[in-house]
Amino acid sequence: MQLKSTISIALFATLVYSQAKDLNPGGVGCVDPSGYTSCYATSASKFTGCGEACMNQYSQGSTDFEDCINGCSATNWATNIGCWLQTCWNQVYSCRYQGTALQYIAGTDILQTTMKKPIPYYPTPEGVPGACSCNLGQVYGNITDLSIADIPVCADVGPGGTAVGASETFDCNCCRTGQLLSNVFNICPNSNLSSIGFDKFFATEEKDITNAQQSFSEIAKTQLGNCTILDTAPDTCASKYKLPIEGTKWWNPLALPSGVPGTQALSDIPGSVTVPPWGASTSTMVLFPAYTTVITPAPYNAKNAAATTALAGTGTATGSTGAAATTKANAGNAVMTGRWGMGLVVFAVGGVLSF
Ligand SMILES: *[C@@H]1O[C@H](CO)[C@@H](O)[C@H](O)[C@H]1NC(C)=O
Ligand SMILES: *[C@@H]1O[C@H](CO)[C@@H](O)[C@H](O)[C@H]1NC(C)=O
Ligand SMILES: *[C@@H]1O[C@H](CO)[C@@H](O)[C@H](O)[C@H]1NC(C)=O
Repeated sequence: MQLKSTISIALFATLVYSQAKDLNPGGVGCVDPSGYTSCYATSASKFTGCGEACMNQYSQGSTDFEDCINGCSATNWATNIGCWLQTCWNQVYSCRYQGTALQYIAGTDILQTTMKKPIPYYPTPEGVPGACSCNLGQVYGNITDLSIADIPVCADVGPGGTAVGASETFDCNCCRTGQLLSNVFNICPNSNLSSIGFDKFFATEEKDITNAQQSFSEIAKTQLGNCTILDTAPDTCASKYKLPIEGTKWWNPLALPSGVPGTQALSDIPGSVTVPPWGASTSTMVLFPAYTTVITPAPYNAKNAAATTALAGTGTATGSTGAAATTKANAGNAVMTGRWGMGLVVFAVGGVLSF
């Protein structure tokens, strides 16, 4: 059974390691690049101050300390989203903004499917200009959807101890892995999703099938052992094993076409957003746990928006700022585990969420 916690850990490895890494150092192409970099710099320095306050108040390693640091981190991630909405709203459909939203969701371990306060423009709606080549929010939503991930184990299907029971259990395993992977491949089969940890998720799913083949070695020797149910009768997955997919196509993990999982780097499709999608007026954004901010979208600036390299003198907040702040807050603890939500929140320094 693939619980969300297991899934999260795979994703955390890359996502949370990256902490609040600035995915667009210099604010390249933002309507207000200097506003963007100074917003990130302020966010990072507030995070450092917050971490120091935790250290002064609680003893390190205590639950209170961990909760305190978790609160600082969550606020940091939320603040960064606010930076984008204010100064880089013209890129809210980009891979980098979607990645920033993902840092917050994965970092706080909030369940995307039941989120009370949605993150503006996440996941990217269909057909918008300048969108990420892969809808990362939909991918993440599918692989962390508890209504999909928490279904009962296949071991319980079929009459126990019989050949029929064994083949049904094996078929069910194929359906289960096929379901989880198809839900992603139906969104973007060709993108390299290692930046959100999908390569690890994929490896785990492949291993599940290999394990099933080992447990059911008699079946593995037959055609069924190639998960042919997914090629010949995938509807059975939904009708018999209650494992439906999102989208229409079933992908057989043992017979994937070349280029799947994808190898294409994520990129933004052409197109520009020239009017704040949220409206040009001021609005208030509230995000868990205690982040409230008033967003005033910066005026549109065609020259800034067209930039493809960082403007001189604006690169004050770099990708390492957040990580440096974390190091300080952790005071030498390379890895610290917290206890929010069902999953495991891991704080560590050094990974990259890269586009
Ligand atoms: C799963 O992917 C489908 C597209 O295939 C999308 O419509 C749906 O919203 C996604 N589900 C979640 C929970 O994100
Ligand atoms: C399973 O698939 C492999 C690779 O396509 C093939 O060589 C093998 O013969 C298949 N096994 C059976 C029993 O059909
Ligand atoms: C995906 O991208 C990562 C990071 O750039 C790279 O290390 C990896 O080799 C790529 N994987 C594939 C299958 O292209």
